[in-house]
Amino acid sequence: MQEQEEVIAIILAAGKGTRMKSDKSKLVHKIYGKEIVLRSYENTKKAGIDNIIAVVGHLKEQVKDVLKDRVKYVYQEEMLGTGHAVMQAKEFLQGKKGKVVVLNGDVPILRPETIRNLVEKSITNKEYATLLTAIYDNPYGYGRIIRDEGGNVEGIVEEKDATEMQRKIKEINAGIYCFDIEELLKALDSINNDNASGEYYITDVIKIMNDNGLKTGAVIVEDNTEILGVNDRVQLEILTKILRMRINAEHMRNGVTIEDSSTTYIYDDVKIGKDTVIHPNTTIKSDVEIGENCEIGPNSYIREGCRLANKVKIGSFVEIKKTIVGEGTKIPHLSYMGDCEIGEKTNIGCGTITCNYDGFNKSKTIIGNNCFIGSNTNLIAPVTVGDNAFIAAGSTITDDVPEYALAIARQRQTNKEDWNRKD
Ligand code: UD1
Ligand code: MG
Repeated sequence: MQEQEEVIAIILAAGKGTRMKSDKSKLVHKIYGKEIVLRSYENTKKAGIDNIIAVVGHLKEQVKDVLKDRVKYVYQEEMLGTGHAVMQAKEFLQGKKGKVVVLNGDVPILRPETIRNLVEKSITNKEYATLLTAIYDNPYGYGRIIRDEGGNVEGIVEEKDATEMQRKIKEINAGIYCFDIEELLKALDSINNDNASGEYYITDVIKIMNDNGLKTGAVIVEDNTEILGVNDRVQLEILTKILRMRINAEHMRNGVTIEDSSTTYIYDDVKIGKDTVIHPNTTIKSDVEIGENCEIGPNSYIREGCRLANKVKIGSFVEIKKTIVGEGTKIPHLSYMGDCEIGEKTNIGCGTITCNYDGFNKSKTIIGNNCFIGSNTNLIAPVTVGDNAFIAAGSTITDDVPEYALAIARQRQTNKEDWNRKD
């Protein structure tokens, strides 16, 4: 971002989202674990814009509960259109020089680089309005981009207002714009609601600027999927998948092997080292770090707060949460380890679980280096197992185990001779 220009963003988040058929605002529905509007905010913030205003209206408290004090709010009392929504933010624009980026709040998988690129193009090309556009084979429902013979953008026509010829245009308006603040304020004074929807369209600003001899332009987005919006729950699922595949692909490009992307769920903010292999049906939640040369899965669940060193093996049907695992340690089958710290080169036998919750509090389990935890051990937290300790299979461990000790905590077996003879 070039220093001399102030850049402000306005996220339009007042709409109803009727097609979600929900009691909740569309914008607070989660896409891959994070609210739609929070994703829109984060994408804008990651693009380098700090001064962000949200226009809220319908179910505004729900949107505010998600965005909290990350943004400034303006209230749109009546939904009179996207242009009217932007007008509500006038107080934050007046007297300012620079750029304002306007974004539809329901476009959650837009890349931050795309927003940054739009602003940079707008500044470099000295344009008063720069739009993001895309080429769609099926442009139905979107505003169409009207260009003159020279290819310059003249304006945007909404589906409802378009002529038969205009509806054939495949270049659509993504609903993401970069405007010159002063000229936007002037143009907003000239828009009206004389159209098929009876709404004030932000899109009319483009034609107004052109009529006033101000240069406008467009950036065609490379990846068409980025600008997809969420209008109903079918689209919500489609976007979730696109986002998931994008995250998986990033990890693969960074040197992680994913055997089956279609059954691998890696949420945001996960770090995975190179040469780690992720087996099918595995879920890795946010805030997890996995080292190099690890094996994860199949059918495993790595939850928030886990930190795995290099060469860790998490095998099948294992769930771990807020757990630190040292280098070379193995948890190969059917375990639950929660709120746990495990040292290096320790083996956690099949079926071992931490009993970390007593109905009121969560407690920690600490296991040292080079331990052998026998199969089907219950570790009743808080409890500590020293380095090089050995726990006999089937033990229920309630007391700390000293280093190098063998702990056996199970009832002795009694054999009743001839007990089951019937004759
Ligand atoms: C808009 C564009 C269209 C573009 C499409 C891309 C206009 C007139 N049209 O159409 O050219 O192709 O987005 O997705 O802008 N909102 C408010 N207040 C309002 C109305 C809307 O805050 O009074 C918010 C909505 O919550 C939503 C965004 O603005 O986040 C877009 O509104 P929507 O009604 O979905 O516009 P589209 O008809 O999709
Ligand atoms: Mg829309």
